[in-house]
Amino acid sequence: MPPAVRDLHTLLPVQRVIVTGGAGFIGSNFVHHLVRHTDAQVTVLDKLTYAASRASLAGLPEDRVRLVVGDIADAALVEPLVAEHDTVVHYAAESHNDNSLADPSPFVHTNIVGTFTLLEAVRKAGVRFHHVSTDEVYGDLELDDPERFHEHTPYRPSSPYSATKAGSDHLVRAWVRSFGVQATLSNCSNNYGPWQHVEKFIPRQITEILEGRRPRLYGKGENVRDWIHTEDHSSAVLAIIERGRIGETYLIGADGEKNNLEVVRMILELTGRDAGDFEHVTDRAGHDLRYAIDSTKLRTELGWRPAYADFAAGLAQTVEWYTQHRDWWAPAKHATEAAYAAKGQ
Ligand code: NAD
Ligand code: DAU
Repeated sequence: MPPAVRDLHTLLPVQRVIVTGGAGFIGSNFVHHLVRHTDAQVTVLDKLTYAASRASLAGLPEDRVRLVVGDIADAALVEPLVAEHDTVVHYAAESHNDNSLADPSPFVHTNIVGTFTLLEAVRKAGVRFHHVSTDEVYGDLELDDPERFHEHTPYRPSSPYSATKAGSDHLVRAWVRSFGVQATLSNCSNNYGPWQHVEKFIPRQITEILEGRRPRLYGKGENVRDWIHTEDHSSAVLAIIERGRIGETYLIGADGEKNNLEVVRMILELTGRDAGDFEHVTDRAGHDLRYAIDSTKLRTELGWRPAYADFAAGLAQTVEWYTQHRDWWAPAKHATEAAYAAKGQ
């Protein structure tokens, strides 16, 4: 049932906003979205790990966006900074499953200790918090399962990455219930679009082709991901910040289920290659089979709709973006491929 209007916790106008992880893929897209769609003053708090790029924030107005370089787990930095703001939107994370299998330690530090540190800061300062999480906390689905993930699906994370994100979600809910922290949560499916690191599936395959090599499919390529354009993720998060109910979780998805083989074939077609011009490589340990999101709550309660309902069109734009932005991705490409090669991937 949609809530009565009086139950909606409207926090507009958003004024002073911290975006953690705002120099990463989804965070930087969200900063651009905030600047375009609100009057907010934005502070990006980012440690600038390998996954970050200052260039993703290029061109933003200096009088509206500033970058603070630092660790979200550093309470001495975080607490006074948070106290100067109205809202924290928390994207910062170690985000790559393959890396979490090689070394889980930074995932525990950033995703769990970092989220804890932010929660303590917003609790002390009475600041609104939005926690960005993933559908991977729910584990995976069979290929023929008629169910999709929804807000009441039990948690069943598979990888160190998803287990630390699950832990961070539980911390947020505990801080809402125990301390009255004004927080909302969202769990989104796989994002694609500009400024995504070349370690991730879609940018890796596009840039391999642009480098004259072949896409690499883990295992048989039958694993299904529910793709959403990162711009649609941003509009959903903004809707939740503005109109979501405190303490509530909203699943974000755009009905974009495709298996990995289908996506590789689409990229090959968009780049003028043969449909069979790819390689099968060593599978990921514990590889989740399928993710799928039921976003009914977000759509009915907050009236959200994706603008990129056509995955093929969004993917074509993304191929074009990587083709035009070699300067952005080339610095990370060599080290990324060297790490994959060492694992037979
Ligand atoms: P990303 O790896 O591209 O960016 C992460 C950013 O966080 C980087 O800029 C990095 O420097 C920063 N960071 C890492 N550790 C930090 C620390 N200790 N202190 C401060 N900054 C730190 O990640 P992404 O793909 O943009 O994901 C952003 C968020 O969205 C994550 O919380 C992730 O779990 C979630 N998410 C991602 C997807 C997806 O498809 N990529 C889908 C759903 C949810
Ligand atoms: O579902 C949301 C999650 O999506 C986010 O929480 C994560 O932060 C984000 O990284 C992403 O996780 P995945 O593990 O699904 O994304 P990745 O891009 O690593 O892989 C997508 C699929 O493609 C997955 O089935 C593994 C496969 N793959 C990946 C790479 C890098 C390949 O087949 N070949 C590859 O080279």
